[in-house]
Amino acid sequence: MRKKTGIAGFDGLIQGGLIENRVYLVSGPPGSGKTTLGTQFLTYGATVGELGLYVTLSESPQNIVSDMSNYALNVSTLIKLKKLFFLDLGPTLEYGYGEELHSVITTSYDEMSEPAPETEPPSPYIVYKEINNFVKQYQIKRVTIDSVSAIRFTTHERSQEEKELGRFMRNLRKLGCTTVLLSELTDPNTYSTEQFAASGVIFMHNFMRDNSMTRAIQIIKMRGTEHDCDMRRIRFTKQGLEVLDRMK
Ligand SMILES: Nc1ncnc2c1ncn2[C@@H]1O[C@H](COP(=O)(O)OP(=O)(O)O)[C@@H](O)[C@H]1O
Ligand SMILES: [Mg+2]
Repeated sequence: MRKKTGIAGFDGLIQGGLIENRVYLVSGPPGSGKTTLGTQFLTYGATVGELGLYVTLSESPQNIVSDMSNYALNVSTLIKLKKLFFLDLGPTLEYGYGEELHSVITTSYDEMSEPAPETEPPSPYIVYKEINNFVKQYQIKRVTIDSVSAIRFTTHERSQEEKELGRFMRNLRKLGCTTVLLSELTDPNTYSTEQFAASGVIFMHNFMRDNSMTRAIQIIKMRGTEHDCDMRRIRFTKQGLEVLDRMK
């Protein structure tokens, strides 16, 4: 089944939407629109009865909620209605051995969930376990993870990094959710573990052209889906991202 992203001009490019229960990678430099895309995917889902979870690994949920509230996407209303949740797993990575491992923004913005056992080191596996618990508890259907780049640097041994990341991606596929993984790693020429393991890869571009900032989206890979690989211009409106015509 196809899951509409709700992003104007985008679903039509991928045969109606993302395939259910798969993991997608959205890659791009800062300011290119990843957080916006990930949020729109969740707010759209929430309005059609699919609960959404936004996992923050590198920034505070408060900042993201505040930024995304500038769009007319009803972020705070959906949070209050418990249709959209923000889960902060950032501190797990920074103070992994500490007591207060994460906090959850719910209706009251201050509900704390169970801390993870102190003996366990922070790792992609811990992050996955926390996400899985939350997904099961709240019957989440859509997940955005912001960003996988933060998880990359938590493994104790560099050699273990790719292996752990591969396992993380495989675990995500078992969540029973449609997942959008955001990433700042943007070199389209190095094929990362995330790119191999994802069912689809979308690039967000942000570059100077003729003295003005040009923004575009490009579908690099989308398994089981007919699509082109062209760059398409995007613009940000009050409703979030909108995909426009092909770039010349
Ligand atoms: N309410 C808004 N209306 C229009 N454009 C916005 C609004 N909020 C943010 N933007 C634009 O969206 C851009 C990127 O947002 P974001 O999704 O946070 O990118 P990323 O997560 O890739 O860093 C900002 O640089 C800004 O130009
Ligand atoms: Mg962002």
